[in-house]
Amino acid sequence: MDQEAIQCEQLTSRGQLRHLLKLEGLDASIILDLLTRAQGYITPTGQKPARDDCLAGRTIANLFFEASTRTRASFELAAKRMSADVLNLDVNTSSRKKGESILDTIYTLQAMQADIFVVRDASAGIPELIATEVEPHVSVLNAGESDVSHPTQGLLDLLTIRQHKSTFDGLAITIIGDIAHSRVARSLTEGLRIVGDSQVRLCAPPGLEPDPEHYPGAEITNDVDAATRNADVIVTLRIQRERIKEQSSLMTSHEYLNEYGLTEERLALARPDAIVMHPGPMNRDVEIASSVADGPQSVITQQVTNGLAVRMAILAAISSCSNDS
Ligand code: CP
Repeated sequence: MDQEAIQCEQLTSRGQLRHLLKLEGLDASIILDLLTRAQGYITPTGQKPARDDCLAGRTIANLFFEASTRTRASFELAAKRMSADVLNLDVNTSSRKKGESILDTIYTLQAMQADIFVVRDASAGIPELIATEVEPHVSVLNAGESDVSHPTQGLLDLLTIRQHKSTFDGLAITIIGDIAHSRVARSLTEGLRIVGDSQVRLCAPPGLEPDPEHYPGAEITNDVDAATRNADVIVTLRIQRERIKEQSSLMTSHEYLNEYGLTEERLALARPDAIVMHPGPMNRDVEIASSVADGPQSVITQQVTNGLAVRMAILAAISSCSNDS
């Protein structure tokens, strides 16, 4: 897919969010509004989850052409808690297996009055392509696009950071792992550039460093201890083996934990109040020691909770509902 060829406006002519394809290009006010809306959907543990009926009569189609647990489940729950009709297309038994194109799949579901498409695909440019083809009242939400973009993950990561650090300025934010293949790192750093002025440190093993053009202003290093020192936030990422052609060059799990994993010893180099994040799915005792993943500085399950709230906030925003009541 030629990324340059397709440009789709994410906002309506009145400046309201219509599609969410990427964080790049959005104003800080839109992102901060989504975070505030999301915060309003979080209820204390043990209480009933937030609900409203602002999506009653709307139909949401979840189209996951790549595996997912968190994003898919949270979009489904978000839609149901907002009273939408929800369609989860089972890709493995759909007519795409008979060769139907993705656009013909979209036109088919649009003819059944689906009006919000949530799309994950392994190819770059698919959410934007769909957004250019749907009817004017229809919205497209990017739920993970190749190694390019995962905007709802970026938003939930920003919300988690804001809950613990109160500001997006002056933080040292370290992302460790397979940055080269990470749409999570791309979207989080895009969001951070928009909402504040933090220092982003990207630490990857040799061969898995990112293209610097995608990360203006970020430090890129192979030195994991230096990247971790005095960090306020540490995001660990798994090696995306499914996107790596030369598997023989990869370290064993044990080697990786020693060389690049977030162990308790390495975490001690960060600030004492540093938080530890991971987008999931997590490979315990590979990119993160199990004791760190479950330790007092981990906010990994909070990220999952925030993911549902963020997806409710996005659905509310594109449907122009308020959660003030
Ligand atoms: N973080 C994330 O996108 O997780 P899933 O692949 O489980 O949706």
